Amino acid sequence: MKSPIELKVVVSQSYADRLREAVEDDAACCAGDAESLAAYPTEALEKLPGSVVTFGCGNPVALAGMRPGETVLDLGSGAGLDCFLAAEQVGETGAVIGVDFTQDMIEKATENAAKLGLGNVTFKHGDIEALPLEDAIVDVVMSNCVINLAPDKDAVFREAFRVLRPGGRLVVSDMVLTRPVTEAEMDDMALLSGCISGSLPDTEYADTVRRAGFAEVALEGSPPGGEGWDGQFWYSATISGVKR
Ligand SMILES: C[S@@+](CC[C@H](N)C(=O)[O-])C[C@H]1O[C@@H](n2cnc3c(N)ncnc32)[C@H](O)[C@@H]1O
Repeated sequence: MKSPIELKVVVSQSYADRLREAVEDDAACCAGDAESLAAYPTEALEKLPGSVVTFGCGNPVALAGMRPGETVLDLGSGAGLDCFLAAEQVGETGAVIGVDFTQDMIEKATENAAKLGLGNVTFKHGDIEALPLEDAIVDVVMSNCVINLAPDKDAVFREAFRVLRPGGRLVVSDMVLTRPVTEAEMDDMALLSGCISGSLPDTEYADTVRRAGFAEVALEGSPPGGEGWDGQFWYSATISGVKR
């Protein structure tokens, strides 16, 4: 079994590789899995260059109700898509900060922000288990298909809680499970980087968010089952909470 540090190296290398394979600098937006793209309305993507790649599993921006002037933090910001959509909502008086531990992602996202002429978005290299940010400076923490990849999810939600102002909110799209993973699944690095085997069963996920101090915790999504179900034990959910 790999240590947390070894797992992070695997994940970071995998996303650096996926970024290199997916980016089409000259294409119209956006590259990424068809399922990731399907979470966004076409008109939101049309204005973006092909170097804005998405590896998400939802659209937290659509659910967070961001207001002009707010400060938003994106945990695991990748090539920046959700940050750019959030930047439109918070406007020039607001700010968006993306944090990611893959240096290639930070460079691509920074390049993308410059291409889009966005002055209210910055990207910081860092681990979401130990955020490079001061306490209580953020109104919204969002994340898209990232926290499942973090070995210490308690630390991630504790950090999200720490950097939020009182009254601030958490809106996360992530993969959750209908059952615990087996040891063989846990050791499958493709299943880990594919955002499946590092995650938690849904009720345990919501409990982890509550344990960090969040109130009004809700987890919404449709677990697989019924006609045509192919036996998959994961599904995309939206998890939200508030710092009172
Ligand atoms: C599945 S991709 C999602 C990227 C982006 N949110 C999107 O929707 O396209 C996961 C991203 O999280 C980053 N990541 C994974 N674990 C992280 C950690 N512990 N700290 C910071 N970034 C992390 C990876 O480098 C990668 O860019």
